[in-house]
Amino acid sequence: MNPRTQELGSKVIYQIYIKSYQDSDGDGMGDLRGITSRLDYLADLGVDCVWITPFFPSPQNDNGYDVSDYCAIEPLYGTMDDFEELAREARARGIEVMLDMVFNHTSTEHEWFKKALSGDPKYLAYYKFVDAAPGATADDPGKPPTNWESKFGGNAWEYVPSLNKWYLHLFDVTQADLDWDNPEVREELANVLRFWRGKGVNCFRFDVVNLISKPNVLEDDFEGDGRRFYSDGPHIHEYLQELVRLGGIDGLMTVGEMSSTSLQSCIGYSNPSNHELSMCFNFHHLKVDYDHGDKWALKDPDIDELRELFRSWQEEMAAGGGWNALFWSNHDQPRPNSRFGDTERFWYESSTLLPTATHLMRGTPYIYQGEELGQTITDFTSIDQYRDVESINYYRILQDRGCTPEEAFHIVHARSRDDGRTPMAWNDSPNAGFTTGTPWLALVGNYPTVNAQAEMADPHSVRAYFKRLIALRKAEPVIQEGDVRFVEGLEGSPIIAFWRTLGKTRLLVQCNFSGEEVGALDAEGSELLIGNYDEPSDMLRPYEARATIWR
Ligand code: GLC
Repeated sequence: MNPRTQELGSKVIYQIYIKSYQDSDGDGMGDLRGITSRLDYLADLGVDCVWITPFFPSPQNDNGYDVSDYCAIEPLYGTMDDFEELAREARARGIEVMLDMVFNHTSTEHEWFKKALSGDPKYLAYYKFVDAAPGATADDPGKPPTNWESKFGGNAWEYVPSLNKWYLHLFDVTQADLDWDNPEVREELANVLRFWRGKGVNCFRFDVVNLISKPNVLEDDFEGDGRRFYSDGPHIHEYLQELVRLGGIDGLMTVGEMSSTSLQSCIGYSNPSNHELSMCFNFHHLKVDYDHGDKWALKDPDIDELRELFRSWQEEMAAGGGWNALFWSNHDQPRPNSRFGDTERFWYESSTLLPTATHLMRGTPYIYQGEELGQTITDFTSIDQYRDVESINYYRILQDRGCTPEEAFHIVHARSRDDGRTPMAWNDSPNAGFTTGTPWLALVGNYPTVNAQAEMADPHSVRAYFKRLIALRKAEPVIQEGDVRFVEGLEGSPIIAFWRTLGKTRLLVQCNFSGEEVGALDAEGSELLIGNYDEPSDMLRPYEARATIWR
């Protein structure tokens, strides 16, 4: 038995998007004290760790992923005392707090960037600045250093007239990419980790961390948006190993968010012999409904592609000694039940099918706030209701590309990051108990029925089902550390099915990703471990998920 596998394999992590979880002071935004007041709810659910999205000082242009000070607390969210109380109270309930480290870029309001703008050479060297052509002006800056696109739309370089230089921003123009080739930058960031370690923090998530190592030669990308040059970049493993060593976090529970990554790279990031991270998020399975790989072009999910992606990432990561973070949902994704299921006709089934698949795979499952209640995407009817910078940009870009306003809205409505960011629904009172003020982002209209209080009172609720899945992972070694093998020959069918085995114990998980009945796989001699239909059947019913076990 591998102790690390058993340790990571027995944990369930819960993600809190702080701005939308629980407001304690009536300003319409969630905060640290709000989270503390909900720790009993989390303990009841049974999770081991809460990842809280960034609550550091920030102008909030990207809701906290634009950090202006890594070692303090954003006043909107509370104080250092509030954080320490939260961490203490969480630990008293057996829950660790995972901090979100945004180390690819800082806010342009960070003092490092401000000093760079003032021309200080030490701090100019903290970022990716490139000289503009002599004689460039604000009105006519010339061509940017490369044609790379920002992830939020538009060119990834911004011209600074006072310096006659460009700086790189892979995300918003107010998120300047750090230059990790500079050892002083790496030392500063390791210091940030040491600061939080000093506060007793034991778990860390690293935001888009596979983008930190940029290529030595900056060249145009004529095949794509530039990502092939800087994703899993040339010194990535070296820089991660150094960060882990200097930051004193080797062996702690850590996760890297890996953007457009490869399986081989993720084996490298998470195989313990490399002393990098415990596990990786990858997003390939969440692109199977992107038409031609374009997030802003809709298509139905391709289940054959989804099955093959799960198969390769499950089986091959295991073979290479890597470890997956398992998830469908986070603050950047539309709610998965609306996306991969049918919440009009089969809301309960869709909301329980998806976690049955991931929670029984090999890896560490993540639950994103409200997913355990079956919260759905928004019912917004106007672009004015959206807050996310990417959604607002793309509403315009889609129209520039020829969409009518209605078509652009239809796409944004299905793909917006705000689809997953609406406030947590606690009860059926006004604003679902999230705030006594005006919520920063409107709630989804179904909260009078889809809310925590109602579901905690109902033994057949989506939340009750999640609770069972969490308890099963803790009880069953085959889920924690069993081998994984996908059922072959299912191409063209809506079923995704896999085996987990440990010694004599075998678990068969079968999931019907469709609203039609299909014949179930033979599971003779097994007993039902968990499923989202009560009556036995030879058929898999709409969005049915079923796990059966032989002991
Ligand atoms: C990650 C975060 C996302 C943020 C981006 C830039 O993808 O999850 O919310 O916008 O990084 O920091």
